[in-house]
Amino acid sequence: MTALKKLAVIGDPIDHSLSPKIHKLFAESSGLDISYEAIQVEKKDFVSAVTGLFDSGYEGLNVTLPLKEDAFNYANELSEESKLSGSVNTLWKEGSFICADTTDGRGLVKDLTSKNISLSNLEVVILGAGGSARAIIPSLLKEKPSSITIANRTFSKAEELAKKFSLPDNQLKAVSTSQPLDCSPDLVINTTSAGVLNQEMDLPSNIFSQDTCVYDLSYSREETSFIMRAKNSGSNVCYDGIGMLIQQAALSFEIWTKHKPKTDINKAALL
Ligand code: ATR
Repeated sequence: MTALKKLAVIGDPIDHSLSPKIHKLFAESSGLDISYEAIQVEKKDFVSAVTGLFDSGYEGLNVTLPLKEDAFNYANELSEESKLSGSVNTLWKEGSFICADTTDGRGLVKDLTSKNISLSNLEVVILGAGGSARAIIPSLLKEKPSSITIANRTFSKAEELAKKFSLPDNQLKAVSTSQPLDCSPDLVINTTSAGVLNQEMDLPSNIFSQDTCVYDLSYSREETSFIMRAKNSGSNVCYDGIGMLIQQAALSFEIWTKHKPKTDINKAALL
């Protein structure tokens, strides 16, 4: 039997996190002895709380809202993807160094791949230009879609993000969600917090069609309001973000334990 590995997810609020359940299922299927708790950490206490956790023997932490930026600033060693995306969701200790990675973007790509969606040559529209959009763009770009358009309520934020990630051979487009799109997207990814906030969201009038695949980073037991809207507008292939949640967790688990866990977790059992 290996020694107990102490892991946790930190955030505020953290009560509803599904990560403890997911990681315990990973540990069971991998035959590993881990503990994984959900610990509430207020933003103002980030440094003392995280230092205390690592000092008391925690080997890995997942970091969720609103602490991702604090984790980015705290880490000594950032992965390339963390640097590019400005985002961190996984911390661990190597010697005296705190290392950091973000597994959100790779988790999304893995989930899309498992659904037989290959991004190469797709016209992709990302809705939203906040932290969640920034976290996934580097991984999406690596898959060489034919275009990425960032559509946001606040146009200037979409423009800023498009500028940040545009490369000479890969220009990202920025648009306002109040204007119709000038492309027919193959894949629409919703990264906005409108659903979680229970708010209405303006969308380009021509965003959905029968040929559009829709992916909502949010998830809930019932269909999300975004997916309901997409289906009502004719899109039949729609997914929520539960698969990405599981895949990003699996990548964190692999970083900490060097084991690739089984990811065939049932959504209903989880929610
Ligand atoms: P996160 O880290 O979850 O991405 P964020 O950085 O606050 O959170 O970004 C939230 C995103 O959701 C933003 O793009 C925001 O649009 P604005 O930039 O215009 O604020 C978007 N969003 C939130 N509520 C929305 C709503 N009701 N309608 C449209 N977009 C919304």
